Amino acid sequence: MVEQLLRTPLTELVGVRHPVVQTGMGWVAGPRLVSGTANAGGLGILASATMTITELEAAIVEVKGRTDAPFGVNLRADAADAQQRCDLLIEHGVKVASFALAPKPELIARLKEHGLVVIPSVGLPKHARKVAEWGADAVMIQGGEGGGHTGSVPTTLLLPSVLDAVDIPVIAAGGFFDGRGLAAALSYGAAGIGMGTRFLLTQDSAVPDAVKELYLSHDVNGTVVTDKVDGMPHRMLRTKLVEELTETGALKRLGPTMRRTRAFKKESQMSWPALLKDGRAMKKAQGRTLAQMALAANTPMMLKAGLVEGDTSAGVLASGQVVGVLDDLPSCAELIDRVVIEAAECLRRASGYLV
Ligand SMILES: Cc1cc2nc3c(=O)[nH]c(=O)nc-3n(C[C@H](O)[C@H](O)[C@H](O)COP(=O)(O)O)c2cc1C
Repeated sequence: MVEQLLRTPLTELVGVRHPVVQTGMGWVAGPRLVSGTANAGGLGILASATMTITELEAAIVEVKGRTDAPFGVNLRADAADAQQRCDLLIEHGVKVASFALAPKPELIARLKEHGLVVIPSVGLPKHARKVAEWGADAVMIQGGEGGGHTGSVPTTLLLPSVLDAVDIPVIAAGGFFDGRGLAAALSYGAAGIGMGTRFLLTQDSAVPDAVKELYLSHDVNGTVVTDKVDGMPHRMLRTKLVEELTETGALKRLGPTMRRTRAFKKESQMSWPALLKDGRAMKKAQGRTLAQMALAANTPMMLKAGLVEGDTSAGVLASGQVVGVLDDLPSCAELIDRVVIEAAECLRRASGYLV
């Protein structure tokens, strides 16, 4: 394991050896991946949106049993029990609270009062400005090439515009996988990088091997951003289901949608009224179509079927575009070591261009 080669505002703020973050990924970023990252000197972030509060507590305890290094938890600020989840983080001395959507100023203040570092994710400079005013310690940007729910602005444009907008440390995510990317992000002025898909494709990730192989078989055109699955722009692998949903008209989409909904209703053991209730709530909140409503209600179950249960035909597999340039499954330690060693070499080489 390499010693510290790069000291940045992120390594200082959080107390990690390397400016590399393993981002929160629903169903993927569990205790094994997070502790693997933490023990390798990076910042691992547990994904909690797909966990009950009891499961979250058990996961935090498990990570603490596997590592003494700092780690974080990714939370949904709009979750009904967000407050209780934050209390759990405080109680267990978790170092970092990461948020998919902007948390309220009072929540930020409370977490900071208890010594947590608050890092919301942002997709626009104005959102970065807002959370910085509210006291966030740093922000993570996710460029459009990133996996999961994503915006359309690429990392190369989003990163400098957020850096111009705020004075707090900025972590760059979306499309990163190696040391050249880390060196480039640091040269822009970022404090470190976040990687999702790259960490999903490591030995420490608990995603079943067959599904990892399926990811690795996709090229750079092997992902697509669509709002046809759950009503929000979502980058995922280009699977048969996703093709059917994106390339056909609304009426034709209803066929595969209903087939999937029936299958996942069976799997999730949710009743039709419960599925419809969830779907209707989403339709009300986000103005989704009837077909999206049915799919949106069970998107988490569809993701779980692939990412946890290993069903390679599940059809909904969140992924960054970066999947197309990946061809191996390193351990977290191998990955982080090679990223920081290569970044240091790149920065040294580039400084040789100075006249
Ligand atoms: C399988 C998967 C699940 C994800 N789940 C979440 C999530 O639950 N919360 C979140 O804030 N971001 C989530 N994301 C986005 C990642 O945290 C991260 O921002 C993104 O993957 C970065 O882009 P990259 O994949 O190009 O590295 C997810 C991404 C993937 C690939």
